Amino acid sequence: MSKKITLLLTTLLCCITSFAQQKNTGDHWLQHANEVVHEQLSKAAAFYKPGLDPRSVNPDGTVKLVHLPDWTTGFFPGSLWLGYELSGDQLLAEKARSFTLALDSARNLTNTHDVGFIIYTSYGNAYRITRDKIYLPALSDGAKHLYARFNPKVGVIRSWDFPEWHYPVIIDNMMNLEYLYWAATALNMPAYAAAASTHAKTTKKNHYRPDYSSYHVVDYDPATGKVLKQATHQGLTDESSWSRGQAWGLYGFTMCYRHTRDPKFLVQAEHIAAFLMYHPRMPEDKVPAWDFDVHNALEKDLPAIKDASAAAIMASALLELSTYEKNAQPFVDYAEAILKTLSSDSYLAKPGENHFFILKHSVGAFLYDSEIDTPIDYADYYYLEALKRYRDIKHISKETK
Ligand code: GLY
Repeated sequence: MSKKITLLLTTLLCCITSFAQQKNTGDHWLQHANEVVHEQLSKAAAFYKPGLDPRSVNPDGTVKLVHLPDWTTGFFPGSLWLGYELSGDQLLAEKARSFTLALDSARNLTNTHDVGFIIYTSYGNAYRITRDKIYLPALSDGAKHLYARFNPKVGVIRSWDFPEWHYPVIIDNMMNLEYLYWAATALNMPAYAAAASTHAKTTKKNHYRPDYSSYHVVDYDPATGKVLKQATHQGLTDESSWSRGQAWGLYGFTMCYRHTRDPKFLVQAEHIAAFLMYHPRMPEDKVPAWDFDVHNALEKDLPAIKDASAAAIMASALLELSTYEKNAQPFVDYAEAILKTLSSDSYLAKPGENHFFILKHSVGAFLYDSEIDTPIDYADYYYLEALKRYRDIKHISKETK
């Protein structure tokens, strides 16, 4: 049998199996979502070119294409890998490989924590899925450069090198700890895991308010580790709760528990989850406005535009958190409600539309007039991850019943 026919048969078998699994759970919305996901990713992979990734849609309706060192460049390759896992379509894996390898020079990035987002979502997924050693040099260099940004005196990884801050750390940085934990084991670098845990502990202490909402930025004195300022960059005000930041923190502490089994991280994740899930201004459809405090600014005519990316990250995080809970159901139910909303016509693209992005309606940086109410690559990425986690959890619970 030729290689092409074998590939075709394997793909067909995977699609039939995944279709049958969804039929059994009665999740027709999930089946529809998977069909849209597969169609959009296949079209996007054929249309866009490796090294120039679709990030969002400009106000004039054109696509914002980005190359390195844009912080989001890992998400489109990562989405192709997740799309491959969801569908079994080998063609997506081949495209994912090309889009990933086009990011090779990311391994030289030394001036931002975003090296973690870029490399771990692309190369990290590539290696996790294929075990192909071709991905290891970039993973190894990127982790080395991320770790080099850790200052033991301060106890955190420095996020940015922008001159207006002394030693800024953003809550988003929690996401990059996953890369360090992975590298600690896979590349035998235990110091990386120790740095990741110290970063999480310092963040827990200095980023969080008594109600378990998080500041966006904490600026430290690099010589002493003293907190100089608790502030925002993308939120409404220094004291407001920027929605995506809350979701990054929830995801980050949940993932830290996975790697350390330190109960303090689990408790922190549970508190953040409660802040988000029972927030009085969480809309009924469970997709928050870009900042939970935007209602305070309504007199300034700031509309409460929703951010699907925050909801997608939250869904993925809650699904992981549910696996550590004796009473998992409220977390699974909440994530399911988010996923059903995002998979409805209000948020999910019609096949072939939306410039082949999967979701609509995210917000990048509202007060900078940047990426308001647009599709965005990281919303798609975490939506796909959440769909995969949801499928896995449902599959497991079906078998253990
Ligand atoms: N990490 C940047 C953002 O979440 O917009």
